[in-house]
Formats: sequence, C-alpha cells, structure tokens
Amino acid sequence: MLKRAVVLAGVLLLVTAGSSADKQFIVGGTLASVSEAPWAVVVTNTQSSRPTGLWCGGVLLAPDKVLTAAHCMTKPVSTYGAIQGRANLSDNSTGRVSGISKIWIHPGYNTKNNRNDFAILTLAKPFAGVPLIALETNPNADRRGVTLTVYGWGDTADTGPDDTLQKAAVPDLGDDACLANKEYVANGYAAASNVCAGNGSTDACQGDSGGPLVLNGRLLATVSWGKGCADADFPGVYAEIAPVAETLAQQVR
Ligand code: ARG
Repeated sequence: MLKRAVVLAGVLLLVTAGSSADKQFIVGGTLASVSEAPWAVVVTNTQSSRPTGLWCGGVLLAPDKVLTAAHCMTKPVSTYGAIQGRANLSDNSTGRVSGISKIWIHPGYNTKNNRNDFAILTLAKPFAGVPLIALETNPNADRRGVTLTVYGWGDTADTGPDDTLQKAAVPDLGDDACLANKEYVANGYAAASNVCAGNGSTDACQGDSGGPLVLNGRLLATVSWGKGCADADFPGVYAEIAPVAETLAQQVR
C-alpha cells in the first residue's frame, strides 16, 4: 500500500531521498501474462492516489478468498476491490472485478515488528474457475541461493510500464543477510517468519505489497516491506507462508 509504504520507509529509516533508496519500481522485471500467474490479483482502493485504483497485490487462495498484506488494510471494507486477469490495469476490457465483503486480519499481526503481515479478503463476487497456487508448507524451502519470482503491478519507475503486471527473478539471500542489517532487525525481521530476497537490480516495490513470491510453483511468501527498492544494502522483506500455512488454510476452508 502506497501511503503506508512511505510511513514504513520512514520508520525504517531516516529518509530515503537522495540515496538509491528512493528508486520506486518492481525493479528489473519483465512483462508477465495473466495466464502464467492467474492467481495474482490486484487489491484496489477507491482512495488510492493512482487512477487505476491500484493499492496492493494479492493472491487468490480460493474462488472467493484473496490473501494480501495486513498493512494494506487501513481503510473501510467498502473502499476495497479486487481485479483478476488484467495485466494492464488501464484496460477495462479484460479480467474480472469484485467488491470485498469481509476482511480477516491475522490475529498475530504486529504493526511494530511487521510480523504476520497477512490479511484475507472475501470476494463479494467469487472469481470462479481460476487456477490456484499451492501454499509452501516447508519452513526449509526458504534458503539462500534459490531463485524466486515475484509478481506485481507496483511501481516500476523507468524499468517498465506503470500499473502493469511485471515479474522479476530475485535471489533468496537467506535470513542471515537481513539479520546482518541492524535496521532490519530493529524493524522486526525474523528468520522464522520472513524471507530476505532481492538485490541492487531486482526487487519488489511500493504497490506490490501482499503479492506473490513464488518458488517451484508454490507460494513461498508475500511482499511485505523494505527500505527503498532495489537497494543492494536493503533487501526486500517478505512474509513467509510456511509458518502460517495451516492458519491461512483454515480461513479458506
Ligand atoms: N510496503 C510496500 C507496499 O506496500 C512494499 C515494499 C516492498 N519493498 C521492497 N523493497 N521489496 O507496497
């Protein structure tokens, strides 16, 4: 979520202006088609500063359930919506839209340390027949050296078109890389509940929050926070699925 991201960046640090941290983009991505990531959805909000309504990313877990980031849920339920199957958000002729009838926020969501940054939205008009993505349940799937794919419609600056589905290959840096960063530890990075990924040329960015980070066809994590975007010294931080997979599955049943 865009405004909240600014707040987070501020909490996270001083100021991002003037450093490479003020770059705003799913950095280093390429165009993705909705057929390769049909379960990737957009969470919209009528109060978004963007004409398309883009607010956050999300993942379809069931025909009527969308997983997104808890930190995106700062507005009344009636202001939210979801879009599936629309790569270019300005193209109203493709995809499906729905309103949101209910918001569940993970009871363990902690705004101070950003732990359990998960929310599940119930769609007023389910997206029936869309292929779903399996949740990763193995806590050891997150390990240094594997290559992950992140999807999102978020900020690209000059690396791609605005509000258009992009994907980027990001390296899993391993928890130690983020634990070595004092600011990240202060901001709540935890090995058991986060994934540390990205580098100076590829990363998620503002507007991608809640969207999917995929490994071997399974949902490894969702976009959560980071200082700036594609800053080699400040990786992307993701909310890891394995420790909450059972809790999330219960909400979807
Ligand atoms: N919190 C941001 C959002 O709401 C996502 C930030 C991800 N940042 C990153 N460098 N990976 O969209």
